[in-house]
Amino acid sequence: MKFKKILIAGVAAGALALSGCGASGNTAGSGGEGDGGLIGVAMPTKSSERWIQDGDAVKKALEAEGYQVDLQYAEDDIPTQVSQIENMITKGAEALIVASIDGTTLTEALQNAADAEIPVIAYDRLIKGTENVDYYATFDNELVGNQQAWSVLNGLGLTDLEGNPAADAPEGPFNIELFAGSLDDNNAFFFFNGAMDVLKPFVDDGTLVVKSGQTSIEQAATLRWDGETAQSRMEDILTANYSDGSQVDAVLSPYDGISRGIISALADAGYTQGEDWPIISGQDAEVDSVKAILSGEQYATIFKDTRELAKVAAGMAVSVLQDEQPEVNDEETYDNDVKIVPSYLLAPVPVVKDNVEPALVDTGYWTADELGL
Ligand code: GAL
Repeated sequence: MKFKKILIAGVAAGALALSGCGASGNTAGSGGEGDGGLIGVAMPTKSSERWIQDGDAVKKALEAEGYQVDLQYAEDDIPTQVSQIENMITKGAEALIVASIDGTTLTEALQNAADAEIPVIAYDRLIKGTENVDYYATFDNELVGNQQAWSVLNGLGLTDLEGNPAADAPEGPFNIELFAGSLDDNNAFFFFNGAMDVLKPFVDDGTLVVKSGQTSIEQAATLRWDGETAQSRMEDILTANYSDGSQVDAVLSPYDGISRGIISALADAGYTQGEDWPIISGQDAEVDSVKAILSGEQYATIFKDTRELAKVAAGMAVSVLQDEQPEVNDEETYDNDVKIVPSYLLAPVPVVKDNVEPALVDTGYWTADELGL
């Protein structure tokens, strides 16, 4: 129900954010209503392809509206991101769109933005601990976590992809290990808590067993969402808990890059597809991970259409600059410790082998060629 509601709202906002900006790029270059002013776009890193797509899509949407764009990537280095934002302010940016590395470290830079009356849009990740963030464009992150857990349960034959019990569900028990994202990213908590809300009853009734005992987000966290960090944690878990002939049946992973690290650890430990290969979740529909879904290495990912997110965020910045009220659909969930940031949440879509084509190819997100189809 919730999903449907947000999906419809998401489409409406997409359309709204698009009005006058040319969905298919038809009006790109025609100038829009912007005054040619500069908008600063700060992205965390190029090491993950999703942020490259996000940055490109935001730039394109803003340019189509007649703005110039200063797009910067900080290679996951916090001081670099802070100085990039300071530079944007110095260069006279009229608005900032920021996907933070660490959501708590921008307070001073954003005070300078506020002093210069520059509106700030938080992009995908909430900026915390400051009143100087005006709007937040993101996905329903709790639902992302729910969907990640449902995809794991689905892979194990326990539920469908919306969490409804399967008629002929096996009894288990199944061994599962849990991974979370970076603790300096507010999203990591929404994903993990959203997933654990779904998984906990199965753990409580013994259907799922976390053999390592590592069930807290602090134990499961992966600094900077780094795949190698996840790989070595998975190796340690396998050595410490599965050297007795037992096997891990499922791994909750919050992000495709982390899933790839987990997959390497499993392959190195001798797990084999078609025999004992576990069910693994993910997020972002990165191209290598979609290929891994097609080949059976990864069971699922969560597709968040970065093109839609970019349109919503760009639309918010443009609205504020044109003295209009940006469209929001959530004014209660995202408390940044100083205020509740008015947000627009888009709908995430779970993807398994069966719906790769309709979800990712038919929508033009990836071509059949890029996926090796
Ligand atoms: C999160 C984002 C995820 C994933 C992760 C690692 O903030 O919501 O989609 O991209 O960062 O980059």
